[in-house]
Amino acid sequence: MREDVKEYYGKTLAGSEDLKTDACCTLEAPPQNIREIQKKIHPEVSGHYYGCGLIIPQEINGLRILDLGSGSGMDVYTLSAMVGKSGYIVGVDMTDEQLAIARRHREYHAEAFGYEQSNVEFHKGYLEQLDELNLEPGSFDLIVSNCVINLCQDKEAVLKHCHRLLKEGGEMYFSDVYSDRRVPESLRQDPELYGECLSGALYWNDFHNLAKNCGFADPRLVEDRPLGLNNDSVIERIGHIGFYSATYRLFKIDDLEPACEDYGQAVKYLGGIEEQEQQFTLDKHHLIEKGRLFPVCGNTYRMLNESRFAKYFEFYGSWDQHFGIFEGCGSSLPYDRVAAPNESDSGGGCC
Ligand SMILES: C[S@@+](CC[C@H](N)C(=O)[O-])C[C@H]1O[C@@H](n2cnc3c(N)ncnc32)[C@H](O)[C@@H]1O
Repeated sequence: MREDVKEYYGKTLAGSEDLKTDACCTLEAPPQNIREIQKKIHPEVSGHYYGCGLIIPQEINGLRILDLGSGSGMDVYTLSAMVGKSGYIVGVDMTDEQLAIARRHREYHAEAFGYEQSNVEFHKGYLEQLDELNLEPGSFDLIVSNCVINLCQDKEAVLKHCHRLLKEGGEMYFSDVYSDRRVPESLRQDPELYGECLSGALYWNDFHNLAKNCGFADPRLVEDRPLGLNNDSVIERIGHIGFYSATYRLFKIDDLEPACEDYGQAVKYLGGIEEQEQQFTLDKHHLIEKGRLFPVCGNTYRMLNESRFAKYFEFYGSWDQHFGIFEGCGSSLPYDRVAAPNESDSGGGCC
């Protein structure tokens, strides 16, 4: 399947417009500041973009970032402009043709962003074998990835490497495709459905459990959208399954609790984060208004207090008293479910 994926992204697809579904497309327009940067990206790079979401969190100036499955380099170069001269981006991909495009335009982008030398590098490698690339454990502030992990055969190995490579308080912030049920093995063997980022997708609850097993105890959903399959042959084969593009953030913070627990704590956002002056978005369930006391569970308190966001918050409360489970950090069914394209709406359940 690895060779099929290389063939798909290296040879079958001549550019973004050859995709059969909107699984590997980012439909929503990025914020204005990112649009301005992306106008400077070389057209050969943007013409081979196959990402499914926006993988740029807040407050990244000066960060050292790893992009898993960096493809033609669209996100690497966007991040390159955003981290400034003191930041650095490492891209990893296994497909020669994609790497060649990305590498070809290093100097072009350094010049476009006003840097004396490029602040990006690209490595050829498999994400399941990141340990072979000589990357220092604990050396990245942020790991991003855009529509790639679904294509990896051993997703557990990938997440474990990420946990090892992140600094304490760092995070993975990545978009990928998830399904509303487990995809049967027969469909996983279909090279087109796999290459289109569908049949390798994890069932969302398997992903949550996998992330927890790999050291990311409290996965946070940032945003999601149902995917349009938009192709009769694809719908016929896999249309009974609902697919979603979703962006998660996984903080590397030791001993987060397996559930959101209430210690009566709260935070106050002080403002100061670029593009989020009035409201800070931690995830889909935490839109934290500037100046307002915002009750949080113990895990959210620690995500803000033990990460690069700490200086933008005031923290209230202690760990002395436990008040039970904390309601409000998200439901067990993360996505707003919609009927799959060929799903009957006859219901049939007892409720
Ligand atoms: C859907 S494309 C996304 C590319 C890029 N992130 C973007 O947004 O344009 C998937 C990329 O992941 C790479 N890829 C897939 N599986 C991989 C693996 N196991 N190891 C390294 N790269 C992989 C492919 O070569 C391809 O470039």
